[in-house]
Amino acid sequence: MKKTKIKKIGILTSGGDGPGMNAAVRSVVRSALHYGLKVNGIMKGYEGLIDDETIELNHRSVSNIINRGGTILKTARSKRFMTVEGQKKALRTLKKHRIDGLVVVGGDGSYRGANILYKTWGFPTVGLPGTIDNDLCGTDQTIGCHTAVDTALGAIDKIRDTAQSMERIFVIEVMGRNSGYIAMQVALGAGAEDVVIPEHKFDYQQMYKDMVAGNKKGKISWIVVVAEGAGKANEIAEKITKSTGLETRFVVLGHVQRGGTPTALDRIFATRTGAAAVELLLKGIYGKAVGIVEEKINIVDLSHACSQKKLPVEEYYRLMKILT
Ligand code: F6P
Repeated sequence: MKKTKIKKIGILTSGGDGPGMNAAVRSVVRSALHYGLKVNGIMKGYEGLIDDETIELNHRSVSNIINRGGTILKTARSKRFMTVEGQKKALRTLKKHRIDGLVVVGGDGSYRGANILYKTWGFPTVGLPGTIDNDLCGTDQTIGCHTAVDTALGAIDKIRDTAQSMERIFVIEVMGRNSGYIAMQVALGAGAEDVVIPEHKFDYQQMYKDMVAGNKKGKISWIVVVAEGAGKANEIAEKITKSTGLETRFVVLGHVQRGGTPTALDRIFATRTGAAAVELLLKGIYGKAVGIVEEKINIVDLSHACSQKKLPVEEYYRLMKILT
C-alpha cells in the first residue's frame, strides 16, 4: 500500500443504527491496525465529535461484535453539526486527538456531514453506507437493509397466519420515511396484495374495488404493506373499513426492524466495505463513499451517494399484481 500522511483515523456511526454496523466498526478497526494506523472511536456520531467523546480502539475492543446488532459506538442524529459552530468544534476534537482521517458510517444525512468536513474544511473523510433504508446511490446494498427486511418479513408471516384464520385485512406499516425499499421488498417476499410507498402515487379507490371484488369471489384475507413515509397504517385501515365494510386491523412494526443479529449478507457487506474505506484513506482518496455493485467494491463521490436512489417500482407493482 502506498504511503500517505494518515497515521490515525477516527470512526463514528451516525443516524439511525442498522444491524451490521458493528461488523463495519470491527473491519475498519482491524484493517487500520493491520496497516499500522491508530484508531479512535467517536461516540454518538457527530454529537460525540462536537463534545469530544472519543475512545481508543484496539484489536480486543472489537472482539465478539461481528454478530451483534446496534453499534458499540452508539449513534445520534446531530442538528448541531449542521451549524458552522458545531463543525468548528468537531474539527477541534479531531485536531486535539491528532486524527487525520475519518470513516463515517451512516445514511444520507451522515454522508452530507462527511462531505461538508471534506469539501468545506478539507478534512479527509470516507463514508460507509449504514442505513436499513437502502436508499444510497452507488451501492446495491446498505448495512442493515437485509436484516431489516428479514425481520419485517418474519413478522408479516406471523400476521398472515392470523389474517387467514380470522378472515381479516391487515395493514402493516414498515420503516422508511423517505424510502419504499423495505416496504417493496417485504411486500413481494410476503406475497402481499398491495404496497404503499413514497415513490409511487397509490390508487386507494382501485384497492377498495379489488378488495370488495376479491371478497365476493371468496378471497378471505388481504395484506397491505405501507412505508412509514407514505401513510399511517391506522388511518389506512380505518378508510378501508369505511369504504369496503370489511374487517381490518393494523400493525406498526417500528423499531423492531432496526435491531437483531445481522444477516450473513449484512455482515459480509460491512466487513468488505469497512476494509475498503481504510484502504481509500491510505491511498489519499477522500470525500468518497464505498459500496458494492455486482459483487465488486464500488467508489462514488459522497455527494452522488446521497442523491435519490431509483427503485424498480414499476416492475415490483406489475409482479405483485400478476402474482396476487
Ligand atoms: O434510519 C432510517 C430509519 O430507520 C427510517 O427507516 C425511519 O423512517 C427512521 O430511521 C426512524 O428514525 P427514528 O429512529 O429517529 O425515529
